[in-house]
Amino acid sequence: MKSIPLIKPDLPVLDDVAESFREILENGKITNFSKYVTKFEEEASDYLNAHALTVSSGTMGLVFALHSLGLQKGQKVILPSFTFMATAQAVLYAGGIPVFVDVENDLTLSPSDLADLLEKHDNVGGVIGTHVYGMPCQVEKLQEIVEDFSRQKSRPIFLLYDAAGITCTRKVRQSCTQKRLLFMKGAYLHNNGN
Ligand SMILES: Cc1ncc(COP(=O)(O)O)c(C=O)c1O
Repeated sequence: MKSIPLIKPDLPVLDDVAESFREILENGKITNFSKYVTKFEEEASDYLNAHALTVSSGTMGLVFALHSLGLQKGQKVILPSFTFMATAQAVLYAGGIPVFVDVENDLTLSPSDLADLLEKHDNVGGVIGTHVYGMPCQVEKLQEIVEDFSRQKSRPIFLLYDAAGITCTRKVRQSCTQKRLLFMKGAYLHNNGN
């Protein structure tokens, strides 16, 4: 039986990166403010037209993003039922309570289910959409729903995208148009104006 791989990582060949690895190992600069981290942040920032920061993992990126958005202890965060477990774990690490929303045929968060859940639950601090396996969330619809609800309730509700499992497509770039953005190993936030 022929198996179909779920994903195929697009990795560089060793010869293309060997020189850079040698340089890093020889100069011992493997943490903050080193040449390649700085270069990566600058290039990501230019590409996304937003401020970019690197952190140690996607999970930490999400935790920092949730804290920076002001998630309060015990507040609920709506996230898709189909994502990597770290999306929900990050909410718990940041003191929030995950509430799962259904996904549509494209495997990303269902806008209509989100609207229902926002009506049903009190104390929702925000929403995380996960871009999955090359398929971006329905960013325009999600933004509209969250902004409407936020206006209705007269309080800010954040909309954050977990992009750890996707490369930066046009849609993904589109979901960070506000220029108030943290980019962290694929996790980035879109802050709806608060
Ligand atoms: C959608 C999603 N979110 C978060 C993470 C967590 O990233 P990390 O393993 O770097 O903490 C992953 C990792 O695969 C992921 O696929």
